[in-house]
Amino acid sequence: MNSIKVGLLGLGTVGGGTITVLQRNAEEISRRAGGTIEIIHAAARDLAKPRICDTTGIELTTDPFAVVGNPNVQVVVELIGGTGLARDLVMQAIANGKHVVTANKALIAKHGNEIFAAARERNVMLAFEAAVAGGIPIIKSIREGLAANEIEWLAGIINGTGNFILTEMRDKGRDFNDVLAEAQRLGYAEADPTFDVEGIDAAHKLTILASIAFGVPLQFDAVYTEGITRITREDVGFAEELGYRIKHLGIARRTPLGIELRVHPTLIPERRLIANVDGVMNAVVVKGDAVGSTLYYGAGAGAEPTASAVVADLVDVVRSLSCDPNSWVPHLGFQPDNLADTRILPVAEVQSAYYLRMQVVDRPGVLADLTRILAEHEISIEAVIQKEPQQGESLVNLILLTRVVMEGNMDRALARIATLDALFGEVTRIRVEYLK
Ligand code: NDP
Ligand code: HSE
Repeated sequence: MNSIKVGLLGLGTVGGGTITVLQRNAEEISRRAGGTIEIIHAAARDLAKPRICDTTGIELTTDPFAVVGNPNVQVVVELIGGTGLARDLVMQAIANGKHVVTANKALIAKHGNEIFAAARERNVMLAFEAAVAGGIPIIKSIREGLAANEIEWLAGIINGTGNFILTEMRDKGRDFNDVLAEAQRLGYAEADPTFDVEGIDAAHKLTILASIAFGVPLQFDAVYTEGITRITREDVGFAEELGYRIKHLGIARRTPLGIELRVHPTLIPERRLIANVDGVMNAVVVKGDAVGSTLYYGAGAGAEPTASAVVADLVDVVRSLSCDPNSWVPHLGFQPDNLADTRILPVAEVQSAYYLRMQVVDRPGVLADLTRILAEHEISIEAVIQKEPQQGESLVNLILLTRVVMEGNMDRALARIATLDALFGEVTRIRVEYLK
């Protein structure tokens, strides 16, 4: 029977959830793993802080390097977060010959190539299922379950905090900052919540998903990233009138010219299942050439959903202890010397349809000017809505849905539209995806 002794870095939301799940389900987990999983040493900053878990029997320290250096610890679980101290700790754990489990997507997205190489060199396992989409086993599903496929594209709601905010704003008319504060209280948000609302956390996760889907190195800096802070209730309302929902999506698509990697608010037809994924829930659609479209859904953040993925990784570690390292599943699902050097497309070469909203002076010829500029840039219009002006006002809201166009053409058309004297303020542009 393989049993493991674990050192835990972090006793916060996920660390606490991990201790609780391991304690509550100890017997069931051991029946699955074929061995026991025991946390013997744990680190946090403030040992006097009240915890969501019972730490009885665990040696506690404020020095995380003491855990990483503990000769009795075989597996280090890194749940501190960030890319500075966490990177040093993980690299030290690997150097000390310890297996590592982490939920830290920022660390994997930014330093994963280096960390995986070090883990291979030292013949230790490095598992990170909890890093993407909380409790959904999306990494295992793509890396192992879809191994027969050439993945064509994937698109996901992969930030629970952002989806929680958008849902509460839409359904209950709540204020952005008020919902964000609640997401922080519930333990969903990152230590720096701008990572959630500016799309950085989703970009970390998309980086990982794209590498696993397409067998390319992790390239966080190549992801085009927009957050949710500029979405207005007005746009949510107009989108609904047109039969769409606005969701914050991470999209990775293989095209003949290269790979699209982008994170941004997106209009999705309301009849798509993913358009109806609300609250802290996450969902990822993956399109493989053999399997077709598959959808993965579940809690994207929170103590126990995330702990579910952390503990599953620990079970994998126990099961794999007696296997030859050459038989371990490669970190990205592709043999490391077979990663492809596929080009990542600059956003100007991305293809998308668009929702455009602008305020224009209510006078003859304005719509004609707009449609002429769009036509000159090879942009076809799918639908137009012009709202009647409020009494006494001379400005109208004009909403256009375009067909699919190259982003660079749209940039050039919008630069021309910006020069029209009938235009008031800026044009709001949100990408539209049909996810067929
Ligand atoms: P928390 O902030 O709740 O917990 C972080 C823990 O790390 C705390 O216990 C903190 O100690 C400890 N810590 C921080 N710095 C140090 C240090 N210098 N020395 C020792 N201990 C330290 O974070 P989460 O649990 O929410 O997140 C942990 C990781 O999991 C992050 O990488 C996050 O991105 C990822 N993640 C989080 C999810 C979630 O839903 N929250 C979901 C999926 C992934 P103390 O408590 O004393 O301050
Ligand atoms: N802050 C992240 C989110 C945690 O809200 O999705 C889960 O990765």
